[in-house]
Amino acid sequence: MKPQLILLGAPGSGKGTQASRLVSELGYNHISTGELLRKEIKSGSELGQRVQGIMDAGKLVDDNTVLELLNANCDLSSNAYIFDGFPRNGEQSKLLDEVVIKEASSKAVYFEIDLDMLAARLTNRRTCSGCGEIYNLLSKAPKTEGVCDLCGSSLTQRKDDNEETVKTRLQVFKETIEPVLAHYESTGRLARVDASQAPDEVFKALRAITE
Ligand code: AP5
Repeated sequence: MKPQLILLGAPGSGKGTQASRLVSELGYNHISTGELLRKEIKSGSELGQRVQGIMDAGKLVDDNTVLELLNANCDLSSNAYIFDGFPRNGEQSKLLDEVVIKEASSKAVYFEIDLDMLAARLTNRRTCSGCGEIYNLLSKAPKTEGVCDLCGSSLTQRKDDNEETVKTRLQVFKETIEPVLAHYESTGRLARVDASQAPDEVFKALRAITE
């Protein structure tokens, strides 16, 4: 089996965009803790109600809540996964190894990019409410405004993609990423890609890392 693949990077660095291509072209399963949490909010569950304010403010949900949700939604015996959005701090890096990945082999890839490029990417992101395709009003606009090119469903904007919340999310990232990188560097599992390149170039680099 391929190694489990852990995508690390700031909000808007392109993790979700590349994950969807890695799934369709290289056959990974994709698990995004942000998506799992948003589903909980949409369903109105107790967990969703508890985390909504935290996510709307751009802060991190507590480690154990996210770990439990992650663990309940992946089965590593079936296939290699892409972990997107977890880990986000040093403690989560250890938990991912000890509780989820265990003896399976894994690689982490850091999407390196100047954080100043990301606010524009995030505030212009739109996502298909049907198939989840990710658009950008500046760099990948849909052919018809507000409508998904692939499935015709309406496009939505994430609640945390407003200027104020984006600032907080980028600040939280700056404060928490270093121990995560150190964890994977010290165990010889860290690769880096230049995430400021066009999506096709980023994908080529990822492909080379996963082969
Ligand atoms: P989450 O859903 O994980 O969001 P995030 O980390 O902020 O990352 P994004 O999804 O915003 O960015 P992305 O890198 O996937 O970018 P994308 O490919 O869409 O987390 C949301 C919240 O959930 C957190 O704030 C927290 O509250 C909570 N949470 C989640 N996990 C947690 C955890 N482990 N612990 C605690 N709390 C947790 O691209 C962005 C835009 O850029 C798109 O419009 C796209 O078209 C465009 N784009 C992509 N690539 C390129 C490119 N190469 N060139 C130009 N434009 C590009």
